Amino acid sequence: MFKTIEKRTSIRSYEKKSLSDNDKLKVKEILNVVEKKQGPFNNQVRFFFVENNNRDSGKIATYGFVKNPPAFIGGVVNNTKEGMIDFGFLFEEVILRLTEVNLGTVWLGGTFNRSDFDVEVGDDEIIAAVSPVGYSTSKSIREKVIRGFAQADRRKPFDELFFKDEKLSPIDESHKYSKYLKAIQMGPSASNKQPWRIVLINDTFHIYLNRTKGYGDKLKMDIQAIDIGIALSHLYLTLKEDNFDPVFINDKPIDLKDSEYIISGQMKK
Ligand SMILES: Cc1cc2nc3c(=O)[nH]c(=O)nc-3n(C[C@H](O)[C@H](O)[C@H](O)COP(=O)(O)O)c2cc1C
Repeated sequence: MFKTIEKRTSIRSYEKKSLSDNDKLKVKEILNVVEKKQGPFNNQVRFFFVENNNRDSGKIATYGFVKNPPAFIGGVVNNTKEGMIDFGFLFEEVILRLTEVNLGTVWLGGTFNRSDFDVEVGDDEIIAAVSPVGYSTSKSIREKVIRGFAQADRRKPFDELFFKDEKLSPIDESHKYSKYLKAIQMGPSASNKQPWRIVLINDTFHIYLNRTKGYGDKLKMDIQAIDIGIALSHLYLTLKEDNFDPVFINDKPIDLKDSEYIISGQMKK
């Protein structure tokens, strides 16, 4: 998974061709597997897969500057902060599994109408995000321009994101758990805001949300909570891969300036 996390990047330009039958099956299988799981706050997500046959003129063809998307995936979840976190956690596992089989994706958040995708959405539910799925056209100029605009390759340094012990000392990249922090640092986030903060105390990662003021206020959902779910997914999947057995618990150790405590990931080996 760590390798896949390194490999993933947002793909906004696709080859103008449909998914092969074999790849369609792979996508559906991945959605089926992850749909059975729960996030750290026990929500589940109902996923959907739609082909974009009306590629050039269809409404969904225009979301997020995406060029030639042959299909979309997305999910429906309870519209609460915890629902959004769990959505981020589960949908990122889908994205990474698709990356593993060389299918391109990009998280698209915002407000989507149920009619665009023809899915059932209950009164307390929302389509939290969607992603195209297809074959990447490598390094088109278009891609570079938009990536530059979103500052996509830039990530905040360790000393802005991660802290050690109650004194909030810096963590350097030689720390025994730095690999898992790096996995979080590489994660996608809405407008690349990287709102995750971690306080590492002994063997427990305490996760906080440092909200970007005013960001997402006009949306009907907590978009930065999705980013937290993505961070938790990267933490959990890379720890699992290295045979740790992380559990999520509510165990706030301290207040962190300008940040909201979310949950803690405790390690057992
Ligand atoms: C919740 C969420 C919503 C996003 N929404 C959009 C979007 O609407 N349009 C878009 O082009 N990219 C969107 N992105 C992609 C981010 O801009 C991208 O992940 C970030 O810039 C980092 O780049 P990378 O994914 O290539 O590492 C979104 C990402 C997340 C996590």
